[in-house]
Amino acid sequence: MGKLENAIAIVTGGAQGIGPETAAHLAAEGARVVLADIAPCDAAVETIRRAGGQVTAVRTDVTYPAQVAAMVDHCCRTFGDPDILINNAALASALDFKPIEAISSEEWTRVFDVNVRGVFECTKAVTPIMRRAGYGKIVNMGSGTFLKGMAGLPHYVASKGAVVGMTRSLARELGPHGIRVNCVSPGLVMTEQMRDHATMGTDAVMSAQIDGRSIPREQVPEDLAGAILFLCSRSSDFITGQTLVVDGGSFLH
Ligand SMILES: NC(=O)c1ccc[n+]([C@@H]2O[C@H](COP(=O)([O-])OP(=O)(O)OC[C@H]3O[C@@H](n4cnc5c(N)ncnc54)[C@H](O)[C@@H]3O)[C@@H](O)[C@H]2O)c1
Repeated sequence: MGKLENAIAIVTGGAQGIGPETAAHLAAEGARVVLADIAPCDAAVETIRRAGGQVTAVRTDVTYPAQVAAMVDHCCRTFGDPDILINNAALASALDFKPIEAISSEEWTRVFDVNVRGVFECTKAVTPIMRRAGYGKIVNMGSGTFLKGMAGLPHYVASKGAVVGMTRSLARELGPHGIRVNCVSPGLVMTEQMRDHATMGTDAVMSAQIDGRSIPREQVPEDLAGAILFLCSRSSDFITGQTLVVDGGSFLH
């Protein structure tokens, strides 16, 4: 029997990178999982089903409240009321490193729309359900770039700082209703997209990242699964408002 038997989880950004890996681990522990993304999640769905997991996908842009409402409705009709939300969708590997003068106001706004307001919209949509149940687990994806700073991505780094702030505020608001809100903060995770990234995928960046770690090796999506599963399980019921850093001991606090 898995740790998340009877759990129902929504994972945003389920089409590529960390999202599908996270969803696969949730499903392997018995959770029924809804993948939500602007991109098709067919490959992730197939992988999880082949492993015996229960999964469905719904095309969702997290910046459109109507689509987010449809995502939650799809979950309720397919599996039941969600008790886990993984706010993972973001503009992350899609961003190029640029000097501040080269970042348009539109790009800044879009990053905040997806990375911050998207988290707000999804959380807002599941809150009435979790509040009614008196129980819920929300995990927001932060980033080590906020803890350590990173040149060339001021909008992204600021958006991840906002996610930490939102995590803390919502933990205070929703804790009395049994809803735990935490943040997982990865280091550079070598997804397929990061490997192909013009800056992140270079040998220089990769070896600098590895050299800065207490555990000096590449970080892969699977490295995050233990922390996320823990924060979704009953084992973490007295933990909320926290940022759990999963980066091989790069940022120490
Ligand atoms: N990979 C890393 O090195 C790393 C490091 C620190 C934090 N993170 C965070 O972890 C999370 C996942 O990272 P990743 O590397 O897998 O990202 P990624 O860029 O590979 O994938 C992001 C996913 O979000 C989806 N998405 C983008 N905009 C969306 C929208 N408006 N609505 C719905 N879905 C949307 C994309 O289609 C994509 O499937 C992100 O929150 C990211 O900021 C990643």
